[in-house]
Amino acid sequence: MTTVRPAAPDDLETCVGIVAGLPEHFTPDVPAKVRGDLQRHGGWVAQRAGRIVGFVVVSRRGERAAEVLWAGLEPAIRRRGIGTRLLTDVLHELRANGVRVVEVKTLDASVDYPPYEATRAFWERLGFVQVDTIDPLPGWNPGNPAAIYIAALGTTV
Ligand SMILES: CC(C)(COP(=O)(O)OP(=O)(O)OC[C@H]1O[C@@H](n2cnc3c(N)ncnc32)[C@H](O)[C@@H]1OP(=O)(O)O)[C@@H](O)C(=O)NCCC(=O)NCCS
Repeated sequence: MTTVRPAAPDDLETCVGIVAGLPEHFTPDVPAKVRGDLQRHGGWVAQRAGRIVGFVVVSRRGERAAEVLWAGLEPAIRRRGIGTRLLTDVLHELRANGVRVVEVKTLDASVDYPPYEATRAFWERLGFVQVDTIDPLPGWNPGNPAAIYIAALGTTV
């Protein structure tokens, strides 16, 4: 069974370890960024049998907006619905706290790189809609056009 709860300070290194174990998705500079962002913004973890298997870091952007900065699962347990469970719980909690729009940035489909085809499929299946492509995105390495996705958790008008 999967449970989802807010990340605690003791979870930090486990989450960083998960990122370090995803070299197809994250460059070697990312674990340090995740450590800083998790400390700064907080996040949620997915647990199975008492063990953390995935995490999400979310930055609030004012009262009604938030960005999913990072998300990752242990590779061995992908495509079993655990990412959906984790993100669905997080989106419900954000909605309950007043968030109405959520952004996530990922690698754009103009780059032929299969690992991120699965990632885009995941966000789209959750209801995220691509609204833009930004290339280059400040802070991202050259050659990595960013797909900007948005999910509406409620009306804003
Ligand atoms: C992205 C990630 C969090 C998704 O979690 P997951 O548990 O593997 O995904 P789920 O099993 O919940 O998949 C939900 C849906 O997403 C889509 N999807 C997920 N993996 C897919 C794949 N490999 N190929 C095609 N579609 C895929 C499918 O529509 C799937 O539904 P289905 O299995 O009923 O067809 C996880 O795979 C991961 O950590 N990936 C590497 C890191 C990463 O990409 N992070 C996000 C950076 S922006």
